[in-house]
Amino acid sequence: MAAETSPDQGLLTHEDILDFLVRSPSFRHLPSELLIRLIVPILGISHYEPGQLITYEGGRQTNIHLVYRGRVHGIRSTEGGREFHFFIQEGEMFGELALHSNRTNTSTIRAVAPTICLTLELETLKEAMASEWRLARAIFMVIGQRLAERLAPMEITPFPWSESLKVGSSRIDAQHERLFDLINQLGNLLRHTVTDATIPQGIHGILRDLLLYVDTHFHDEEHMMEDLGLPWLEAHKKIHRSLENDIISFNRKIQQATAPESQHFMLLQLHKFLGDLLVNHIMEEDMKVRSYRRPHHATVETGLKKEQAIPNQQSSFVNLP
Ligand SMILES: [Fe+2]
Ligand SMILES: [Fe+2]
Repeated sequence: MAAETSPDQGLLTHEDILDFLVRSPSFRHLPSELLIRLIVPILGISHYEPGQLITYEGGRQTNIHLVYRGRVHGIRSTEGGREFHFFIQEGEMFGELALHSNRTNTSTIRAVAPTICLTLELETLKEAMASEWRLARAIFMVIGQRLAERLAPMEITPFPWSESLKVGSSRIDAQHERLFDLINQLGNLLRHTVTDATIPQGIHGILRDLLLYVDTHFHDEEHMMEDLGLPWLEAHKKIHRSLENDIISFNRKIQQATAPESQHFMLLQLHKFLGDLLVNHIMEEDMKVRSYRRPHHATVETGLKKEQAIPNQQSSFVNLP
């Protein structure tokens, strides 16, 4: 279960929370005075471990969540029994549709990284919205945008590799780049499918290569982190296992789908899921390797022992293996 605390009891100060709210897409247009008066006092704080369930589809909804730190993955059913997968990033909100329809969760949501959510109890929020039209307008704008997104067709966007994604290890960077290439190959094949009544030839080959390569990459990356003695290795492994489970479950559903259009739909979602996953995971987690500092001449090849690695000290960056 997530630990629930009020802002007064939690690790965050009211200043931290206000600073977050004024930058969040949902609340940034509201004056600070209004946020301090109406929102900050009614926020709770919840902590979640990677893989931990936050809401389940069909369950009773009592809170709206704002992702303060971390990232969550959601699945919701669409017409025809299909599933739609999505990520919610820091600053974004989920669960607000309960204000529009009924109090039932429309998605199953899990943390995919250590996550802190700010929570707003629905009834209390409704009272605050009734007392301040600007707050009601801000919340209903989020609801309107979310409903519009649900009506929009799923697009196949390419995931371009860029220098800014380099973590500083030539081996890991090359693997990340190869993963981008495989994901974009999958996207290209899906994009050039004229009709979703047939699955393009070669797609299962790319899919197999992609899944094997994710496996190899996670293994190699963990090995590199182990050699460097990175203190957050276990947490990182946990995130990798959670992502692997998501990918395995996706692949199982693709293989089990009997109708080509269902398979096509799942492939589209897997493409988006893997692209988002790669970009977010590299930027938020893998990138920590880049800021890890070791003594100037230490490299893995020189036989640096774990206990010799010095995190965050006055030393130069060195090339990672
Ligand atoms: Fe990683
Ligand atoms: Fe990685």
